[in-house]
Amino acid sequence: VPIADLLRRPAEIIGTDNNAAHRDIRLPADLYRPQRENSRGIEFGERNALDKLTSAIATERKATPTAVASFTAEQTDAAVAAARRGFRAWNATPAQKRADILVKAADLLEQRRAHFIALLQSEGGKTLDDALSEVREATDFCRYYAALGRKLFGEDEAMPGPTGESNVLALRGRGAFVAISPWNFPLAIFLGQVTAALMAGNAVVAKPAEQTPLIAAEAIKLLHEAGVPASALHLVQGDGAIGAALVTHPQVTGVVFTGSTEVARSINRTLAAKDGPIVPLIAETGGINAMIVDATALPEQVADDVVTSAFRSAGQRCSALRLLFVQDDVADRTIEMIAGAARELKIGDPSDPSTHVGPVIDAEAKQRLDAHIAKMKKQARVHLAGEAPAGNFVAPHIFELSDAGQLTEEVFGPILHVVRYRAERLGEVLAAIEATGFGLTLGIHSRIDDTVEHVIDRLQVGNIYVNRNMIGAVVGVQPFGGSGLSGTGPKAGGPHYLARFATEQTVTINT
Ligand code: SER
Repeated sequence: VPIADLLRRPAEIIGTDNNAAHRDIRLPADLYRPQRENSRGIEFGERNALDKLTSAIATERKATPTAVASFTAEQTDAAVAAARRGFRAWNATPAQKRADILVKAADLLEQRRAHFIALLQSEGGKTLDDALSEVREATDFCRYYAALGRKLFGEDEAMPGPTGESNVLALRGRGAFVAISPWNFPLAIFLGQVTAALMAGNAVVAKPAEQTPLIAAEAIKLLHEAGVPASALHLVQGDGAIGAALVTHPQVTGVVFTGSTEVARSINRTLAAKDGPIVPLIAETGGINAMIVDATALPEQVADDVVTSAFRSAGQRCSALRLLFVQDDVADRTIEMIAGAARELKIGDPSDPSTHVGPVIDAEAKQRLDAHIAKMKKQARVHLAGEAPAGNFVAPHIFELSDAGQLTEEVFGPILHVVRYRAERLGEVLAAIEATGFGLTLGIHSRIDDTVEHVIDRLQVGNIYVNRNMIGAVVGVQPFGGSGLSGTGPKAGGPHYLARFATEQTVTINT
């Protein structure tokens, strides 16, 4: 069965917004049930699907857990040691069995979608659109890695035998893998990391972000229920200090991390300084992601795609657009259209299905974003500065900079920075993007093929989106991950990802 066929099941009651964000993509018809779009670009399979789902979510909300305990250093140590002990049996479990367990986990996730949506909303502040697509993405990861794992780990690869010996190459688990995940995709990235490491035969110690521990706890419970042995999968809760303690543990044999560049560097330093085995790090970090819009772009489409890319999920995606370069001939009109579309966004309670922009993750994030807004109000031209309701909300803002260099760090929220450029100075735009040092996502809106090709050739960016929005990479369709300051490169949801969690073994037999 082709991997793509295993990815998506026909949604029983409701579509996902992964396809809304990607409505220009023609996926094979059997992956989706034909769906209609509502005014927000969400596609629904049935007229009353939304009502059914929201009432199921409301019921689940009452049943969500409320607290988890933080771990001590001793418990953290014990978790790694236990994972190390659990590794052998799990690594010896046939890959087909491991894959069956992941498929079972995907089935359970689909059955419990309302429960996870309720948690994603209450703990992660996710809107219905975002929560729905996140459960879908998490499910896709399970199915995709299962399908890929059956192939990669199911059979050893016969190598040539020109000397008369038999040679086989096999992929095997590395040992105890530590998975440290962020709060912005507390289910999808969390499960993506964990299931990839498990499928590759590793035992896992998962350390979710301290802001979203409940979702992680529920996800781990689900994996155990699906059949992952308790000895192969351990959960450690706590803050960055606990994460740091985990990676220093001498029995850790691999680390997968998604979060800030700064923390990735510090993990790298810790791993390098440790005695014992040389431990690889798979890191996916942030980006000062840019989009280039030239005078041939379609303005309505640009407005829609920019608003989605910059403000969807309250800008709290590592793929989100931060720096928009607009050709000066069309800049006034384009910025006006973007600001107009952004003004229509409804900010507020994420459990209200009509909300577009929910809260930012916590008060600290709001403070940081408010400080950036205050700074920009002094340094930049203000095109949009909306009012946010009380609480941890930040309204979408649009600032025009005279120079891209004014933006020196990733600003993780609904704040868009715009820079005008002259057509003959596209080279300077590309140099400015390169100068950020990041390379995660890039958008190009242009109908000139030469321009598009030139930009693609010139910039080392992990995910490039042409004439569409630049968020919401689909598992198995748009493998996701960046380079440079944005990470070590392996692409989640791509065909080469699992191999990065494995070690290779060649066996030569003199027959
Ligand atoms: N995978 C997510 C996206 O593509 C990352 O933030 O939007």
